[in-house]
Amino acid sequence: MVRVVVINASPRKDQGHTGMILTPFIAGLEDKGAEVDLFYASELKVKACSCGHLYCWHKTPGECIYQDSMTKLYSAAKNARILVFASPVYSPTPGDLQNIINRFVALLDPVLEFRNGRTRARLRADVQIEKVALVSGSGWWEKENVNLLEHVIKEFAGNASITYAGTIVRPHIYALRTSEGITPEGEKVLSAIRQAAGELMETGEFSRGILDAVSRPLVSREVYEEYLG
Ligand SMILES: Cc1cc2nc3c(=O)[nH]c(=O)nc-3n(C[C@H](O)[C@H](O)[C@H](O)COP(=O)(O)O)c2cc1C
Repeated sequence: MVRVVVINASPRKDQGHTGMILTPFIAGLEDKGAEVDLFYASELKVKACSCGHLYCWHKTPGECIYQDSMTKLYSAAKNARILVFASPVYSPTPGDLQNIINRFVALLDPVLEFRNGRTRARLRADVQIEKVALVSGSGWWEKENVNLLEHVIKEFAGNASITYAGTIVRPHIYALRTSEGITPEGEKVLSAIRQAAGELMETGEFSRGILDAVSRPLVSREVYEEYLG
């Protein structure tokens, strides 16, 4: 059984655009037998990492000084093989998500190695995570809006020496649905997202073809800008 921890960082939870693309992604994971543990960042009460001394490395290894919602997230993450962040594009992440990312430092071993020009840690021996992926929808037209958020998640993975599996990017996400519901083209994108999650389970990564199907332009920039008003 492959356990997957998914963190939905949208304050709008299942009702938001992030929820719209995350639902088929989770279905695709489950199609391939994953056991998914879904957390909503806005429901968790996670204090900002603020001891400033890395006590979780040097004083109480593996234990944060705070007892809050991270306790259950640590325990789920320790048993997960895949960690998925799902987030809207803010600059670069919604605040709740940034707090969670910082607090994950307690899962790292304080053994720093200099590799390929970068100082990297690694996961503690009791943490199973092998892959990290990002699922993100951007409000603006071009997919490059996700770059900064993607960089943050890639750095998180790199610092923990976890393989970065890839990014599901859905640009001009508002074009996927109207007041009448998801458009036929939107349905095709959601179906590609479900397939992408299946690929992640089967191969540990996403194929170029599926990433392109997920991100493909649905309307011209000019039309979308008019729509954004
Ligand atoms: C504070 C804030 C900043 C945002 N900045 C960007 C941005 O820089 N680029 C972008 O493509 N979308 C941006 N967006 C749009 C969101 O990424 C987009 O609306 C997203 O789909 C919302 O997801 P949700 O419905 O799950 O909350 C921003 C939204 C908010 C609330």
